[in-house]
Amino acid sequence: MSSLEHVSTGVNIFFSPSVDKIWAMNDINGRFFDCAMPHDPDTDPSIIIDPAATGSGTGESMFDALLMHFAGKETTDELDPRVVKALRAEFERSEFFGDDMRRLWAMCERVVVQSGRVPGGTGSVINLLNLACGYCEEGAVLSAFWGRSGKRVRQFAMDLRHAEIDKARRRYAATERMFEAAAGGKIRRRDEGLDVEFIADDATHLVGYGEIPENYDVVFIRHQNLWHDRTTWQRIYEFALARIADNGLLLITSYFDREHLLALELLKSLGGEILVSERNRSSRELSYPGKSVDRHVAAIARGQSS
Ligand SMILES: C[S@@+](CC[C@H](N)C(=O)[O-])C[C@H]1O[C@@H](n2cnc3c(N)ncnc32)[C@H](O)[C@@H]1O
Repeated sequence: MSSLEHVSTGVNIFFSPSVDKIWAMNDINGRFFDCAMPHDPDTDPSIIIDPAATGSGTGESMFDALLMHFAGKETTDELDPRVVKALRAEFERSEFFGDDMRRLWAMCERVVVQSGRVPGGTGSVINLLNLACGYCEEGAVLSAFWGRSGKRVRQFAMDLRHAEIDKARRRYAATERMFEAAAGGKIRRRDEGLDVEFIADDATHLVGYGEIPENYDVVFIRHQNLWHDRTTWQRIYEFALARIADNGLLLITSYFDREHLLALELLKSLGGEILVSERNRSSRELSYPGKSVDRHVAAIARGQSS
C-alpha cells in the first residue's frame, strides 16, 4: 500500500515506503497516530476507533454561525424571526454556500475536535491567516466557523495572483450584501470594519505589512500545492509553522492522496506535529482521476523544534 486507504475496520491509514512509517488516524485519544513500524489494524484493533463514533463537533449550524458573523451578534435570538427566515432562504439559494462549503465546514469540525486544540483559548479575538487563498471561496465560511463561539475573527487572506485576490474581495463583499439585502437592512453590521483583509503578494512576505499580527491562532491552506512547486511550498510551510501561535493550528486540505502524503511528510520534517488527518468521504470528485475537493484535511501543530 502506498497511498491513503480506508480499511475494513473503518480507520484511515497510510504508509509511506520512503520513510518506512505507517500512520493510523484516530487512535484511542482521537489523535493522529504515528509509529516507526507498521501496525496491522486487523491484529491490533486497540489503536483504532471508528471516526463516525467521535461525533461531529459543536453541532452549531453553518447558517447560524454565518448569521451571527454578519449580524455582529453573539446569538441569533435577538433577530426578528421573519428576517432570519428570509436570510435562510437566501442562504439555501446562494451559490456561495453549496455542498463543498458545507462539507469543508464538517471536516473542519471533525479535525479540530480531534486535534484537542482550542486555538485562541479564552481570548476574544482569533487571528486567522488564509494562505494561497485563490479566489477564497471559503472566506466568509472560515470567519463564521472560527467566530461561532462569539469570538471576533480577523482574517488575512493572501495569494500571489492579483486577479484572484480581486475576485476574493468582490465575492466576500457580495456575501455581506446578500445578508444585508435579505434582512432589509435589519441586521446590525459590525463596527470594527471589514473582517477580512485580502492581500495580493507572496505568502511569505507578510512580515512586511505594518498592522498585521506576527502570529496566528489558525493558519489555513486550502488545496495546498506542493506537487506543483516543492521549493515554493517548502518556503510557505516553513513560514506557516513559524507563525502558529501557542495552542494554534495549521489546517491544510489537499486534492489528492500523494500530494497530501508528501505535504505531511514535509511538514513533519520541518518540525510540525501532525495531530490528525482525515479523508473526506463525501468530497466531490473532479474530472481528473483520484482528485477531489478537500479530499484530505489535516491539523498540524507547531512542534517543539519548529
Ligand atoms: C491549488 S491553488 C489553491 C487556491 C485556493 N486555496 C483554492 O482552494 O481554490 C494554489 C494557490 O497557491 C497560490 N500560490 C502559489 N505560490 C504562492 C505564494 N508564494 N504566495 C501566495 N500564494 C501562492 C496560487 O496563486 C494558487 O492560487
